[in-house]
Order: sequence, then C-alpha cells, then structure tokens
Amino acid sequence: MVVLGAGPAGLVLGNILVDRGIDCVVLERAERTHVQTRARAGFLAANTVRILERHGLADGLHRRGQLHSTCEFRTEDGRFRLDYGGLGQGEPHTVYPQQDLVTDLLTRFLDRGGQIRFGSEAVAVRAADSERPEVAVREADGRPALWRARYVAGCDGRHGAARRSLPAGTVRHHRDHGVTWLGLLAEAPPSLDAVGYAVHERGFAGHMARTSEVTRYYLQCERGTPADAWSEERIWDELELRMRARTYGPLHRGRLVQRSVVDLESDVLEPLRHGALFLVGDAAGLISPSAAKGANLAVLEAEVLGRALIDDLVVGDSKGLDAYSARCLTHIWRAQEFSHWMIGLLHGPSGADGESLFHNSLRRSRLTSLRTSRSQQDWFAEHYVGV
Ligand code: APR
Repeated sequence: MVVLGAGPAGLVLGNILVDRGIDCVVLERAERTHVQTRARAGFLAANTVRILERHGLADGLHRRGQLHSTCEFRTEDGRFRLDYGGLGQGEPHTVYPQQDLVTDLLTRFLDRGGQIRFGSEAVAVRAADSERPEVAVREADGRPALWRARYVAGCDGRHGAARRSLPAGTVRHHRDHGVTWLGLLAEAPPSLDAVGYAVHERGFAGHMARTSEVTRYYLQCERGTPADAWSEERIWDELELRMRARTYGPLHRGRLVQRSVVDLESDVLEPLRHGALFLVGDAAGLISPSAAKGANLAVLEAEVLGRALIDDLVVGDSKGLDAYSARCLTHIWRAQEFSHWMIGLLHGPSGADGESLFHNSLRRSRLTSLRTSRSQQDWFAEHYVGV
C-alpha cells in the first residue's frame, strides 16, 4: 500500500493499516520538521475524537487538548452566546493544534513499524485501472523512483499528485464564495472563552482559541490583498473595531507569527475512487474554513478507507472499497452544506444597492433565528460539531 502525504488523512490511514500488519509506505514531499510545525486547524469534533480513540491515537489530545463548547456572535444587534455543548447532540469540540495531532500520529506510526519517506514527492500515479498501480516519485536528491503497490491512497492535499493523475471525466464541483480571509496566528492568549464570530459592516472578524499562548484570528479583506499589506497595529485596530472591543472588552494583543490569505473556496471531486487510487481528505474535497470541518472530514474518510482496505486485503471482502466513494460523499456534502450556510451567516455583500440590502436583511434575520429559536440552536449545534 502506498499512501501519498503525511497530513491528518495519510497518517490516520497509515496507523490503521500498520496496526493490522498491512505493508504500507507513506511518501511525504516535505521534511519532518515542516510537517510537525505547520500550524493549521485545531477544532476536533467529538466523532473525530472517538475515531482517534478507537485506533489508540488519542492519548496526546486527552492529555493536552481543551474541551470547548461555546461560541459567541457579535453583531449590529448585540451579542449572544450559544453553549453548543449543551444543545443538539450535546457534544463539545476538543481544541488541539493540528501540528500536535500530526506529531502524535507520526510518532505512533513509526513506533508501530510504519515506513515514511520524507522529501519524496509523488509526481504521478499511473496504471490506476490495473492491479499494479505505480507512483512516480522525485526523491529528495532529485533522482526519480517508482513505487508499486496493490492500492494507492491520495492523501496529498489540494495540489497533490493524486488530483493531477485523475482520468478525464472526473467531475470537480467547484465554488468560489467570493470572500477572502486574512488568517492570523497571534502569540497571545485567547481574548474570550468562546469562539468569537463578529459580523460587521466592514467585514467579518473571527477569534479561535488554540492554546493558552496562541490564538487564531481571521479578518475578512478585499480579494487580492497581499498577506503583508497591513501593519500589525492596523490589523489589531481593525480586529478590535469589528469585534466591538470598546463595548465588550479589549483583545489580548501579541506578535503575529503567521499570516495567510485564504480565498473561501469549496470543491468536491466525484467519484473518490479510480480503480486502485482513492482520494482522501483535502485531495477528495476542499471545504472553506468557516465551520472548521476540513481536518475532521479527513480523519473520518481515513477511517472509512482504512477499514475497507483491511476487509479487502485481510478477508478478501471488497464491498467496503466499492462503497467508499458514495459513503464519504454523503458526509462531505453534509459538511459542505453547513459550511456554506455559515458563510451566508457571517458575510454579506458590501454596498447600498437593493440586492446587497436584501441579502444583509436575510443574514440579519438568520442571526435572529439563531439567537431566539431553540430548535434552530439545536440544529446549529448538531451540525457545528458533527461530521
Ligand atoms: N507528494 C507527496 N506529498 C505531498 C505531495 C506530493 N506530490 N503534495 C502534497 N504532499 C503532502 C503535503 O506536504 C502535506 O503534508 O501531503 C500532505 C497533505 O496534508 P494536508 O494538506 O494536511 O491534507 P489532509 O491530510 O487531507 O488534511 C486536510 O487538515 O489542515 C487541515 O483543514 C485542513 O482541510 C485540511 C485538512
């Protein structure tokens, strides 16, 4: 078995397979330190935690993760909180930085005897419609190499080799939401004990805890704004303005140690299987970060594929592999639908034309329903934490 990519998808899958004695190599383009220090997502759904527990991968997050179950909306109509951990299915998130999870998964994979080749970049997957697919690789020293396996899992993200190797006729459903966020990582403790969503006429601002010393912020900006366009002071001033810090209290400022520009986009590839090649995680579909679903979907899909591969390779039962694409697409589309709803909740078109005013009134009304209707809150909680 060849697994492309050592992100959450590739490493959960690798662990599940190696645990059952399946010969498996993970090919990772980056170096080990890069993989273990790349700060990205951090909100793990309750179901993700259960999956990791089932495979003996949850020790670190139980030791160092923080339970989190409240979000706060700040809008032109005031502020309200939802204790989503007590609504819907009654489930909290676990906040655990993705680089810590990846480090745990990697350590465990190596302890279990898994093989990983850092600095090996997959270039193409060939002969996926045969029983002996091949992965062409560029090794760290630039030399070409070829890996052959019974199956290949494409867990190499949105720009990986798996996506580039798909046959003609693969459908890519794509949506550009027309919204851009500046993603910021601040060396500062969280400013509130909740996920903060600020809806403001100047654009959206978001606050998400990571650890007691690091907090993630998001600031909506014009499409095409370079990541370094704004000074740190201007960013903090704008965050405080949109989060209405004068009314609700100042933010804990700190050095901004990472900035990235995120154009909110979604896509879903269909199907997720092409002969011996399976797409998992970001390679299977991109989801906007509005509802923090990306890493959770990646873990879920890795488990579905891992179990199906074990059935096939150990017991000779291929039904799970045949059903992989349809099963995962059901989860992916549900997550896409909720993330899309969140985008509509948090952003409105700017402008005073009739169309913008109409959309903004709808958004305001959607927030009012969320503030006042218990059944709407239960629905929100169930989808916000669920995958
Ligand atoms: N060959 C080998 N490795 C590759 C290649 C390639 N051609 N291209 C990319 N990679 C590696 C990347 O370096 C990265 O380590 O594949 C890995 C993909 O990992 P992620 O991008 O984290 O994707 P995935 O495991 O699907 O996790 C998805 O996690 O960060 C969250 O929200 C984010 O949705 C995302 C989720």
